[in-house]
Amino acid sequence: MLKKIKTSSLVLGMHIHAFCGPWLHHPFWRSKFTLKGQKDIQKIQQSSIKEVIINIQKGCDVAPLKKTQQAKIALPTTSAEPTQPYIPMEQELSRAITIYAESKQAMQCIFDDVRMGKTVDVNTAKSIVDDISKSVMSNSGALISIVRLKNVDEYTYMHSVAICALMMAMAKTLGFQKEQIKEAGLAGLLHDVGKANIPAVLLNKPGPLTEEEHKLMKSHPKEGYKILKQQYSVSAAILDVCLHHHEKVDGSGYPSGLIGNQISQLTKIASICDVYDAITSDRAYKEGWNPADALKQMSQWTGHFDQVLFQTFVKLIGIYPIGTLVKLKTEKLGVVYEQNSQSLLKPRVKVFFCAKTHRYLNPEIYDLSDISITDSILGPEDPENWGISNTEQYWAVKQ
Ligand SMILES: [Fe+2]
Ligand SMILES: [Fe+2]
Repeated sequence: MLKKIKTSSLVLGMHIHAFCGPWLHHPFWRSKFTLKGQKDIQKIQQSSIKEVIINIQKGCDVAPLKKTQQAKIALPTTSAEPTQPYIPMEQELSRAITIYAESKQAMQCIFDDVRMGKTVDVNTAKSIVDDISKSVMSNSGALISIVRLKNVDEYTYMHSVAICALMMAMAKTLGFQKEQIKEAGLAGLLHDVGKANIPAVLLNKPGPLTEEEHKLMKSHPKEGYKILKQQYSVSAAILDVCLHHHEKVDGSGYPSGLIGNQISQLTKIASICDVYDAITSDRAYKEGWNPADALKQMSQWTGHFDQVLFQTFVKLIGIYPIGTLVKLKTEKLGVVYEQNSQSLLKPRVKVFFCAKTHRYLNPEIYDLSDISITDSILGPEDPENWGISNTEQYWAVKQ
């Protein structure tokens, strides 16, 4: 399978199929070979050739998130750690599904401990973060898409896991150091720990809350802060996320009504991830929105989020997030299977339905960035309009 990429995206192990540009301008007498040395990459990048075609069947593919692009939107001055090798979606989904099950049990224990008046088991929390970190650093799309599919009754625990994964993916995209990425993960995992002190009937109430109930629910950031403050190993940044993740940049949030940069960067990241997961998950009182609609709605809420960080978040999740049903120019329907770091408009799509004949097809993955595939996305589709149920079966499964 051939893919055109910028020379700035070259990494060791990629198989060069051809150079884009006159052969006189490229620095090698041959054009088909695998990159085995850093010197070869430098030679290409120093030449006038700006793009190459790689064969991803014979060598490495591009990582889903490219650090050189991320640096343009990165706010911190820290430099990123070396990238963990990219793991293909097919493989990473299997690991993500296992992490999902294990972290659910561990989070349940953490919340149960707090309910019984014990302290937070920070070591267990850190080991969950370590597991999630491995998955997010290899291919963040897998876990952040899997945790969105949580059931109503596991929302409290898995919401924490989702925010952990999303915050780490954001931190990675923004070029944070390894330790800062883990701190972001721990902040996400513990941000709602104060909910352990809110009665379960209220957390899972299937209807609107009374004024009194609303007040009680809004006490969870301060409750969480009190719980975490007792732990010497929880950093000030994590305490801040716990206390302020419901603040809004226009000052209309709670508990302190902080405005703009009075809210820390990590807390602003938490706020975006928190709302995205809350509105895309099925809850006791409403069904979750599909991710594409959620991003569209969030983009219209003025004064809620930091706009620069929100744009970074959209780039992370994609215009057509994983799991979105899309229609292609060739009248085929498929679900988005994996993002493409080079172009948000050209993800990998698992095609399984012919819109012309209303017939199911043998599922097949189309990599829309492959130059041999001329198809493209027309737009998202509502599965209900096509009588398609359970689109998850086409992507959220162990291989
Ligand atoms: Fe919260
Ligand atoms: Fe939350």
